[in-house]
Amino acid sequence: MKSKTHKVAVIAHRGARSLAPENTLAAARRGYEVGADMWETDVAVTADGELILFHDDSLARTTDAAERFPDRAPWTFTTFTLAEIRTLDAGSWFVRQDPYGQIAAGAVDPATAASYIGERVPTVREALQLTKELNWCINLELKRQPAPQEHFPLVDAVLKVIDEVHLPDDQIIISSFNHAWLRQVAAMRPRIECEALVGFSKTEPLQWEKTEFGVYNVRYTLITPEEMRALAARGVAVNLFTVNDEEAWRQEIEAGAVGIITDFPQKLIAMLEANSL
Ligand code: G3P
Ligand code: MG
Repeated sequence: MKSKTHKVAVIAHRGARSLAPENTLAAARRGYEVGADMWETDVAVTADGELILFHDDSLARTTDAAERFPDRAPWTFTTFTLAEIRTLDAGSWFVRQDPYGQIAAGAVDPATAASYIGERVPTVREALQLTKELNWCINLELKRQPAPQEHFPLVDAVLKVIDEVHLPDDQIIISSFNHAWLRQVAAMRPRIECEALVGFSKTEPLQWEKTEFGVYNVRYTLITPEEMRALAARGVAVNLFTVNDEEAWRQEIEAGAVGIITDFPQKLIAMLEANSL
């Protein structure tokens, strides 16, 4: 478990994605500025085998790929080279849509919002370098890759970049719904913390009788406070995703959550500080 400033670790989901375009360096910087303990981000592989930060299978929602490459629908990121992806604007959509209303609410000032226009999709190397520069922590989520990169050796590639950047092991977490990848990481780099994501399907029942990992990152609607208390008593740590609701934060902290993955680290920290938590 990583050190934390408050009673729970505040984990900025896709960077602080209510304050800046998700999975960009700008979002990570905002997460750091508001005081999050770490940022979570999604690892993706380009057509030419480069590692970037990206969430959706399609580039369409969070970049201008559909306008720039109209004949490449459905704009699956694994079919674009890094050079192509680097020409995309991954920031303007956020300013146009203000998806979490934080520009309208004044939490993002106009000059900052304007600075997001033209923001680039970052590489994993840049994400690790920024984390090192800030002396901060990063949770790299290793995602299932769409075709034609479904068999890409993701673990080897990620560990190689980590080694090249020299980010200390205790500033890195690797998480994944693919637990076989986590076993691979654990065997190759035992000092890097692995966190097992569970609840890929929003409804699947979770079994807690047998646990393999020391830390589970659980979809928050699929675990009860009783189950969390029982896990804590067995020394199993639970982080919850993705929780944006103050009432849920209170219940989860009470039930012994170790960390909360949220789009609103600024609000979670304000709540923790207002309650001396
Ligand atoms: O780390 C938890 C969370 O990021 C998993 O879901 O789809 O937001 O990457 P997703
Ligand atoms: Mg993620």
